[in-house]
Amino acid sequence: MAEAQLSEGHTVSYSQTTITELMIPAYANFGGKIHGGTLLSLMDKVAYVCASKHAGNYCVTVSVDNVHFLAPAEVGDLVSLIASVNYVGSSSIVVGIKVIAENVQTATVVHTNTSYFTMVAKGQGGEKAVVPPLILESVEDIRRFASALRRRRLRSYMTERMVEYKKDFVVDDETRAFLANERCIIRLAS
Ligand SMILES: CC(C)(COP(=O)(O)OP(=O)(O)OC[C@H]1O[C@@H](n2cnc3c(N)ncnc32)[C@H](O)[C@@H]1OP(=O)(O)O)[C@@H](O)C(=O)NCCC(=O)NCCS
Repeated sequence: MAEAQLSEGHTVSYSQTTITELMIPAYANFGGKIHGGTLLSLMDKVAYVCASKHAGNYCVTVSVDNVHFLAPAEVGDLVSLIASVNYVGSSSIVVGIKVIAENVQTATVVHTNTSYFTMVAKGQGGEKAVVPPLILESVEDIRRFASALRRRRLRSYMTERMVEYKKDFVVDDETRAFLANERCIIRLAS
């Protein structure tokens, strides 16, 4: 990507992408609903397109936040995945994806989930590439950018805490008290 484009940045609308696909019977799970993995695969595709447009480079998926399926998609639904860049770091891009499923006969639309894919831009040789800044043109753009930054900081705090927890873990009175009301039975061989 040229230096001028890198410093000027791109607006959110520059890379906004929507993929729409009809849910065919082959996408169903044993319960007859659309397989979560099918939706994740579509989300990964739309995240790739959206991030690569913004970056002007090839992008890879690094992590996914907030995969909670709030409502199932059904066979015959028209599923749309609406993706936009929420945040950019140095080489990373967070793409927010809203997934909606429309029953084409009744025109009923359900929001199945909103997830956040973190993608990293790569250069020709596979090295990390710096991405252009994001131009924020609305209060919504600013809210999404700040929210993604908060998630990033919380994730890093949580990762550090969990590494410490794993390193220092012992089954002591504190651990037993912590698990006292849980549905587990501690049966350690002495
Ligand atoms: C992702 C990858 C580039 C990270 O490489 P690295 O040398 O450890 O790089 P860094 O630690 O500097 O991370 C690069 C960026 O990713 C972000 N990142 C790294 N791990 C992350 C995670 N688990 N969640 C969110 N962001 C993450 C960093 O914050 C950093 O962002 P910034 O450049 O905007 O500050 C490297 O691990 C990789 O190529 N992984 C394989 C990805 C892939 O092939 N995915 C396809 C699906 S299998």
